[in-house]
Amino acid sequence: MQSALEWTAGDSSRSCKLQTMDEGTAEVAIRNATEDDIEGMLDVLSAVAAEGRWIATELPLDRAARGQSLRESIARSDGTVLVACAEGTVVGELTLWPSATPRELGLGMAIAAGWRGRGLGRALLDAAIEAARAQRARALRLLVFPHNAAAIALYARHGFEPMAYLTEHVLRRNGERWDCVSMRLRLD
Ligand SMILES: CC(C)(COP(=O)(O)OP(=O)(O)OC[C@H]1O[C@@H](n2cnc3c(N)ncnc32)[C@H](O)[C@@H]1OP(=O)(O)O)[C@@H](O)C(=O)NCCC(=O)NCCS
Repeated sequence: MQSALEWTAGDSSRSCKLQTMDEGTAEVAIRNATEDDIEGMLDVLSAVAAEGRWIATELPLDRAARGQSLRESIARSDGTVLVACAEGTVVGELTLWPSATPRELGLGMAIAAGWRGRGLGRALLDAAIEAARAQRARALRLLVFPHNAAAIALYARHGFEPMAYLTEHVLRRNGERWDCVSMRLRLD
């Protein structure tokens, strides 16, 4: 796993060069999403949903509804939508949205399978925490499946703490009910 990427920071973005699977290099940028990224974000969500293990979203993905929800999230000022782009293609996304608790933001993220383990999750989360602090958010909250060791390690490394174990919290389309762990990061 690549540990120390050299990120060059711009105004609201950061970029670096990453080694690709075929031993080439790709310019990767972490930046705020725009409407032009929505189709790419839906492709990432669809591919990760197809793995059937890591996120609550399942196939078939309602692209119109999810696209509209992303469009609204990008437009609003009380949340953040970030993308990781490799050579112009979206390979990861992270969304922060206002939760029912004032000044607490919900968090969801996904990296395309071929781009995992190379520091992009960490870079997206670093950028999201920076954005949340700039919005004076008090905390970030998320739900993660207990079998998702990579995600739990990433969140724990960033200071998220487990808050509750939610038994049979998520109903899957096959009728199974999966447990979740609720995690929270205090920012104040
Ligand atoms: C979880 C996820 C976002 C991590 O992103 P990533 O780009 O692979 O992670 P990084 O390469 O930035 O690694 C950051 C940290 O995550 C943890 N991590 C990443 N992959 C791991 C693995 N396979 N096993 C254990 N820990 C892992 C480590 O703590 C790592 O830090 P380290 O390199 O200093 O040890 C990514 O695996 C993913 O998108 N998975 C599918 C979707 C998903 O699970 N979304 C979250 C739902 S709650």
